[in-house]
Amino acid sequence: MKPVFEIRERSRVYVGAVGDLLPGALPEGRVVVMTDATVEGLFAPLLAPYERLLIGQGEASKTLQTAGELYERLIALGADRSTFILGVGGGIVTDVTGFVASTYMRGVRFGFVATTLLAQVDASVGGKNGVNVGGYKNMAGCFAQPEFVVCDPAMLRSLPDREFRAGLAEVVKAALIADGDLFAALESASFEQLRTENDQLCDILTSAIRVKADIVELDERERGERRKLNLGHTLAHAIEKCSDRMKHGEAVAVGMALMAGAAERLGLLDAAQRDRITALLARLGFDLRPPVPLERLLREVVHDKKNEAGTLHVVLPAGIGDCEVRDIPTSRFATLFSDAG
Ligand code: GLY
Repeated sequence: MKPVFEIRERSRVYVGAVGDLLPGALPEGRVVVMTDATVEGLFAPLLAPYERLLIGQGEASKTLQTAGELYERLIALGADRSTFILGVGGGIVTDVTGFVASTYMRGVRFGFVATTLLAQVDASVGGKNGVNVGGYKNMAGCFAQPEFVVCDPAMLRSLPDREFRAGLAEVVKAALIADGDLFAALESASFEQLRTENDQLCDILTSAIRVKADIVELDERERGERRKLNLGHTLAHAIEKCSDRMKHGEAVAVGMALMAGAAERLGLLDAAQRDRITALLARLGFDLRPPVPLERLLREVVHDKKNEAGTLHVVLPAGIGDCEVRDIPTSRFATLFSDAG
């Protein structure tokens, strides 16, 4: 079957039924699956033919210790350079699997079946792999493209509403930065329709993946264009550091709403455009109130050791379906959120 996208001539993205697509996507030879216990239980018949290694669940499992344990278990299985590693799961599984596969024995072939909306539209596509270190997200990692990613909308039926909604934040992000038609399609769909109507979900999924695939095609290593994919993420990472109440996508929704306010203050958005953004997020069911005071989030951003030489690449919506990246000294970031700024 033909992939829907081919990124940098080495990473194929398929959208469709996993049972039809996976056999053709996998190479001949030994396959070791990395997954988590929930996904293994939900998709047992699909995974039954393969040897499986389980990864713990939640952000707390995305560590060098988990990676180290997986290397040891691959060694115990006798996995060698010809073994193909298949990550089946959400963003944590695909981030860790990609990291382990691209470093085990200096790198073995790997691919993904993405089972959450967040992984299908963002985490599994584009070749960013990594683990968290010392409370900082993705501090150790690498760029390495999976040979393929399979995104089956039917697999999303098993997701809890909250998890599905969190993934929708990344769909809204894709629409906001580069696809005004996708944004309008989201405005005319309800959360319930997106949950239940396969064709509509498939179209929306494909459009969101297209935004990501096009950007990664231009800038795999995040030297410019790819920074746009971080819309809402500077504040989202601060939210995730300050509170464990919110899922990543929920924090991104809050971050995008705050950045829309900043963009309006800077004259990049008019009030009606800003309202469309917050109205869409609210209608999809996001709570857009930061879980801790904004001042605390801004302090967290200033003290984040990940910030490159005191400069933030700040992504601001500049219309619906357009955005711009401005380099702003970290010390001035807070001024974006005050009328005095
Ligand atoms: N998740 C943002 C990126 O892949 O660049």
